[in-house]
Amino acid sequence: MSKTYSIAVIPGDGTGPEVVREARKVLDAAASKGGFKLAYTEFDFGGERYLKTGETLPDSAIDEFRKFDSMFLGAIGHPEVKPGILETGILLKIRFALDQYINLRPVKLYPNVDTPLKDKGPEDIDFVVIRENTGGIYTSIGGATRVGTPDEIATQLMVYDRRTVDRCLKYAFQLKKRRNALNPKYAAKPITLIHKRNVLTHCGDLWYRAFEEMGSKQYPELKRDYNHVDAANMWFVKNPEWFDVAVTENLFGDIITDLGAMIQGGLGVASGGNINPEGVSMFEPMGGSAPKYAGQNVINPMAAIGAAMMMLDALGESKSSRAVETSMMAAMKKMKSQAAGRMGYSTTEVGDMVASQI
Ligand code: IPM
Ligand code: MN
Repeated sequence: MSKTYSIAVIPGDGTGPEVVREARKVLDAAASKGGFKLAYTEFDFGGERYLKTGETLPDSAIDEFRKFDSMFLGAIGHPEVKPGILETGILLKIRFALDQYINLRPVKLYPNVDTPLKDKGPEDIDFVVIRENTGGIYTSIGGATRVGTPDEIATQLMVYDRRTVDRCLKYAFQLKKRRNALNPKYAAKPITLIHKRNVLTHCGDLWYRAFEEMGSKQYPELKRDYNHVDAANMWFVKNPEWFDVAVTENLFGDIITDLGAMIQGGLGVASGGNINPEGVSMFEPMGGSAPKYAGQNVINPMAAIGAAMMMLDALGESKSSRAVETSMMAAMKKMKSQAAGRMGYSTTEVGDMVASQI
């Protein structure tokens, strides 16, 4: 009997459904080649549903999601919904409730993909950022008072506990070990902690000590490095080849991974995973709902296909995951650009190209 993986799919808003459709096409091709099955269950959470019913994501949905092997998200965000409602009510709620404590963001420039970095190529831009995904400022501990008056005060605290830091670092060190075994080019580079310990003397110190302790005691064979986040921003642009595995806290990770997306060729190709290594993970393209391109069949599905590739790897189907990547690379070679509307192909055609070569 072939194995069947159950996948909860949230196509979501804007171009979400279009890119999910293409990712599923590729997943199905990979499954039939790889001898396993994928059983999808679609959920209609997103802006449209919220506007109709006033509901973002009920707690009962979280209990449903727990039963799946994995989740796949298109995009959340609607021009008629005030910013913050869908983000916190759907995306962040899922991340927190399912304890998806790792945000895994590969920053890999594929051949024939344009980077805005002059004189940098695929051999220079090939690293992963591990962003802690449940703590920090995103816990939203704090408050506001005298709102709307000249004396208004607002606070939102960066909150970390040792356990949250340690479990994130453990994932990062283990990934670094796996990558080093894969490629001597990776092994030559350090694992880099990114923070701001020259100013954030409490949180930064916690992360730094935890990193040094775990690294020296449990992974002495791995080279370690540390960058302040502002400096890391410069090095991502000037010397991206210095990085292999970079690990950081939540908000810093949010910011530097958008920079990472740009140097790898833009939102059309950037994918991410919200991972609970012991539970249910969720994979998504980084691009957002791109309302101005919705319904035109011009959006690039490559980021969603990349997220599908990551999902297969997380499910343990690493051979199929690699087959998807090879096929993505072949399609990218033919495409004129990775930008929406300028690919030289429609959304559907890009999905067909990748799926047909698996
Ligand atoms: C991301 C997004 C989210 C975040 C938003 C939409 C809540 O920017 O996944 O990087 O800040 O984490
Ligand atoms: Mn972000």
